[in-house]
Amino acid sequence: MIKRIGILTSGGDAPGMNNAIRAVVRAGLSYGLEVYGIYDGYRGLINGEIKRLDRKSVSDIVNRGGTILRTARLPEFKDENVRKKGVEVLQSFGIEALVVIGGDGSYMGAKKLTEMGINCVGLPGTIDNDIASTDYTIGFDTCLNTICDCVDKIRDTTESHSRCSIIEVMGNHCGDLALMSGLAEGAEMILTPDHPIPEEEIIKTLKEMHDADSDKRAILIVSEKLYPDIQAFARLIQEKTGFDTRADVLGHVQRGGSPSAFDRILAARMGAYAVDILVEGRGGRCVGLVNNKIVDYDIYEALALPRDKHVSMLRLIDLLK
Ligand code: ADP
Ligand code: F6P
Repeated sequence: MIKRIGILTSGGDAPGMNNAIRAVVRAGLSYGLEVYGIYDGYRGLINGEIKRLDRKSVSDIVNRGGTILRTARLPEFKDENVRKKGVEVLQSFGIEALVVIGGDGSYMGAKKLTEMGINCVGLPGTIDNDIASTDYTIGFDTCLNTICDCVDKIRDTTESHSRCSIIEVMGNHCGDLALMSGLAEGAEMILTPDHPIPEEEIIKTLKEMHDADSDKRAILIVSEKLYPDIQAFARLIQEKTGFDTRADVLGHVQRGGSPSAFDRILAARMGAYAVDILVEGRGGRCVGLVNNKIVDYDIYEALALPRDKHVSMLRLIDLLK
């Protein structure tokens, strides 16, 4: 049986990562393993930024956003020679297996390390919910709630001024944050990569709304990257519809904050499960929540799965308008 495992967080941070770290450390110790924290993701791995973690190292972090192990992006990790250095560093610490918390890019790094002899397990840590092998990623629920808090506040002023507010949310190329926050907020329009609306149609609908009722306000939730110049889009809407229009980009506030109970529990379940996999001597796997069961997939198979486009939820946009 293995004796030493490592853990790192990689890519964009997400609320709940700390809960996953805690679960890996505590489950590892319960199995009698030594657990090492690798700081700053794959960059810290290459540089040997590694410290042993004990029970106390992960005390009082259940309510903290971000990641106590910090995170980083290291594009050079795609290079096999750079990964070789990582394997050598792990071997020098006697670390035989690794838990990697991050998104699909981090999963690729984990799979390739496994192919080089270090069993790795990936946990889905990202606010974007863009990993097809899990119904929910760690951090998505907290982020969704943060967006709703922000939109609730923007709604007050939008309503008071009978304005149109265009609110841009994160998600990278995945529209789940926009779709679900838009549904939760009863937004007039939701624009995502899976649900784009032609500009003429947006303008026509908003103009009709405004012409029918001058006290009307409208809230549009828009996925980032759909409109590279969101302020120009707001000016166009104002000019063509008569709505006094503002655009707000929520930005990194969406990545912070104390994790929701859902994310804490999800992370605890997934973290403990990851250690089970490593103890069984398996690697190259990633953990997911599917129909409320914790499951694992081969990382390549997971990355090839088609993403759920939430067709039944998309249908609600029109049905509930
Ligand atoms: P995320 O994990 O959130 O998708 P990134 O795509 O930025 O975030 O990936 C995080 C890190 O994972 C990258 O900075 C890089 O170190 C590593 N990585 C990404 N793609 C690969 C790959 N194809 N092979 C090896 N490592 C990768
Ligand atoms: O992947 C998480 C995420 O927050 C995306 O939603 C967003 O596109 C990106 O990271 C922002 O990255 P950065 O922290 O580099 O600005």
